[in-house]
Amino acid sequence: MRIDIITVAPELLESPFNHSIVQRAKDKGLAEIHLHNLRDYGLGNYRQIDDYQFGGGAGMVLMIEPISNCIEKLLAERVYDEIIYMTPDAKTLEQSISNRLSLKENILILTGHYKGVDQRIRDKYVTLEISIGDYVLTGGELAAAVLCDSIVRLIPGVLGDETSALTDSFQDNLLSPPVYTRPAEYKGLKVPEILLSGNFPKIEEWRSEKAFERTQQIRPDLLDENI
Ligand code: ADE
Repeated sequence: MRIDIITVAPELLESPFNHSIVQRAKDKGLAEIHLHNLRDYGLGNYRQIDDYQFGGGAGMVLMIEPISNCIEKLLAERVYDEIIYMTPDAKTLEQSISNRLSLKENILILTGHYKGVDQRIRDKYVTLEISIGDYVLTGGELAAAVLCDSIVRLIPGVLGDETSALTDSFQDNLLSPPVYTRPAEYKGLKVPEILLSGNFPKIEEWRSEKAFERTQQIRPDLLDENI
């Protein structure tokens, strides 16, 4: 999979993409991530990329021309399965979206800043808009990092244990059950007996029950989605 990201702050993305699972995916040749600095497409001597908004109001807007030039250059090189705009005024990211995106070949992600991008960019190019939650970040870079991490770890071969992504929270609209590791007892705090029993059908049953209980307590809204 190839992911291209258009950003005004590439340095914000270097660290997340040079560590952890994303680095492992890159090392294994399973994912490529390319950053494009919008400033390189800026207009005039000052490489202008933003301007005041028509109609007045506080905050700058990323201009249509630099973004359009950058997108057109990339579109001339390859076809994108999705052109995604990271913005708080969009549908919230869910596991099912990451699952679907992890099967794509080429994804282009546009990150906003300030008041966002000129609406005409969204109308003309963007095929999917994603928010990572109901709060406003300084820019879309951290949101893009979250999205990429959630996608890249699902690419077959990226995680060591192939099954582990399938048992994550949210894969079946349930939160994960509690997990424990050694020692079996620490200062009187004991691991549930069932997990030490070696009875794997019973252990699975226990995990399902706990996942359901936890979801009911913390995220009952997820259970409504199962109906
Ligand atoms: N840019 C700023 N805030 C954001 C959010 N919550 N999700 C996605 N992009 C954003």
